[in-house]
Amino acid sequence: MAARLDIALNQAGLKLPEDGQIAVFRADAGVDYTALPVERTLMVNSDHVQFDRLNALGFRVAELAEGDYAAALVQITRSKAETLALIANALEVTAVGGVVIVDGAKTSGIESVLKQCKARLPIGGVVAKSHGKLFWMIRPQVLPEDVVNLQNALALTTNKDGFLTAAGMFSPAHVDHGSALLAAHFDGRIKGRVADLGAGWGWLAVQALSAGDIGAIDLFEAEKTALNAAAANISDPRAHIHWQDVRSLKSATPYDHVICNPPFHQGRAAEPAIGVDFIRKAAEILKPNGMLWLVANRQLPYEAALDQNFSHWKYLEKTSAFKAILASKPRSPSARTKWAGGTKHR
Ligand SMILES: C[S@@+](CC[C@H](N)C(=O)[O-])C[C@H]1O[C@@H](n2cnc3c(N)ncnc32)[C@H](O)[C@@H]1O
Repeated sequence: MAARLDIALNQAGLKLPEDGQIAVFRADAGVDYTALPVERTLMVNSDHVQFDRLNALGFRVAELAEGDYAAALVQITRSKAETLALIANALEVTAVGGVVIVDGAKTSGIESVLKQCKARLPIGGVVAKSHGKLFWMIRPQVLPEDVVNLQNALALTTNKDGFLTAAGMFSPAHVDHGSALLAAHFDGRIKGRVADLGAGWGWLAVQALSAGDIGAIDLFEAEKTALNAAAANISDPRAHIHWQDVRSLKSATPYDHVICNPPFHQGRAAEPAIGVDFIRKAAEILKPNGMLWLVANRQLPYEAALDQNFSHWKYLEKTSAFKAILASKPRSPSARTKWAGGTKHR
């Protein structure tokens, strides 16, 4: 990804159109967009975290690109199928003769995206940078059918576990093995008012609904596309879905149980600290006798956060890849602040 898009565009000798709207797909608040005319640019991102950050920077932001554009920029994502679908979408909504720029880091797979695009359309040019590439294509009069069809990856389709998902979501092809490990321990013990933090397309919430005596379950998820899938997957009236950045969640009525397979990425970047924020949030929104059911990749360092935020916690199960954890007795805000390490309950 080009943190300095202006430098990359200069190097490319690319002139942006002087009239008309420009859409940035999967716009990223970490990129310097000063090269784009702010009043004519629409930042598109269905991730609540990016949506809020871009808004705070003063941009116009939308969940979806609607309308016609004079040019478009696509920031690639960690999912190749999603990236190619977004490029196809950008080409479709850009005027004939308009430029569609694709920007991405080597670690996110820009080389392979370029190769896939090259196989379908002429590439206008490529600028290589130390950590990535920027390339562009000109919107042809007629878009080849195999380009148009790439957009199908964004449509909800039934995966091998019978759930509706699409490219770009967490584990779209099948249920995550970590979530499956955690759900095997629910065993009718999840009751009352429940929150699912980072609910994805809803698999874990469905397991809780079918394996407990739940009054209501709130699914909190930052990615709107995943939430739309969860809404399509769950018809139970006890489930309520919320497009929400978990880290800014405030709950007036505390919960009996929190279930959570926390993210360890924010957008493209690996960010294990986000799991710590989710553990702290769980402690904040639980009743004093409430419980957190958590699963994580085995190597992720969440133990200190569990010590700090809960008086008791234990491993339910550890495998070579995952650890499932049950934490209880969330510490009060003052106890969390004062906590200086020491007592371990495993
Ligand atoms: C590891 S996945 C778990 C998904 C689902 N619970 C499951 O078991 O398949 C974590 C989820 O958290 C979401 N997420 C990431 N950052 C978030 C945030 N700040 N607030 C809410 N959800 C977030 C991701 O989009 C992703 O769907």
